[in-house]
Amino acid sequence: MKLRKLFAITLTGMMLVTAGCGGGGDKKSTAGKESSKKLVMYWGALEDWMVKDIAAFEKETGIKVEAVRMSSGEVIGRIKAEKANPKASLWFGGPADGQIQAKADGLLEKYISPNAEKIPAQFKDPDGYWTGVYVGYLGFASNQQLLKEKGVPAPKSWEDLLKPEFKGQIISANPGSSGTAYTMLATIVQMKGEQAGLEYMAALDKQMKNYQKSGTAPARLAGQGECMVGITFLHDAIKYREEGMKDLVLTAPSEGTGYEIGAVSLIKGGPDQENAKKFIDWCLTKKAQEIGQTVGSYQFLTNPEATPPQQAAELNNTKLVKYDFAWAGQNRSALVEKWNKAIKA
Ligand code: G6P
Repeated sequence: MKLRKLFAITLTGMMLVTAGCGGGGDKKSTAGKESSKKLVMYWGALEDWMVKDIAAFEKETGIKVEAVRMSSGEVIGRIKAEKANPKASLWFGGPADGQIQAKADGLLEKYISPNAEKIPAQFKDPDGYWTGVYVGYLGFASNQQLLKEKGVPAPKSWEDLLKPEFKGQIISANPGSSGTAYTMLATIVQMKGEQAGLEYMAALDKQMKNYQKSGTAPARLAGQGECMVGITFLHDAIKYREEGMKDLVLTAPSEGTGYEIGAVSLIKGGPDQENAKKFIDWCLTKKAQEIGQTVGSYQFLTNPEATPPQQAAELNNTKLVKYDFAWAGQNRSALVEKWNKAIKA
């Protein structure tokens, strides 16, 4: 019990990253919030990218950043809980679905960055509450060695996942906590309609080994041989394969797959609004968007001037569904609840 508690505390401590001292605080300023040289943010993409981005932003602006990495559902929960007294001013990353829900819940502040002009309309909120930074495609990361041992090919469709040979061999994240897994749930329901979609999710539940908290875990666990198939964003699987998990093989469902627009937004009433706006301006630039790929974040990029990672090219021909972000975001809580009921039935 005690150990578990200690572990939780250590983990929280570890995830609160402040990269270097930057320009330090503005010691002369006494009151003025906006003259502070500080920014607290919640980060929904990978940690190593977070550390790199913070270091680069601090170096350029002298603003000292504190960031916590969380999955989408956790960020929403945290911002909601802090609504009366927000601790963070910015939310970076994770599928826009989460930020669309946060906008509907009155948790975000409108901010149209001058740099958002360059971002194509399909990657940003028409009302200016969130702006897309990257795009990722959902798919399957399978362990070639395990597939070979059982003599089965990698799944090539959503229907394949229901085959008996995959029973107890699939890992996904939980749609309640993970933006990745919510993208899967919303994709299936958009493709099949609500009833058939939830029936499919209930059938898929019977195939699952377990559900993870964060969206990258299934790819990593498949790479480690913990399961045959991880449902994940494919760029995450490319990262793990490149880092040495050579058994990972990537496939995308033939019926079509869903995708994310990883977005940035301003949290309503946060303590460092001006600094948060500076970060939003900065992360939309070509230079900043190209940082992720230096640490294995291989999403496509929303700034047309930015060079996308070469590694993403293998995903170019992925068949995508026409994913309705507004619908997915506005129905997030309700759909997660229906999914919970469907898998318990
Ligand atoms: C990883 C991916 C991102 C994605 C995020 C979602 O960091 O690289 O593209 O936005 O996962 O995280 P979650 O844990 O909420 O599924």
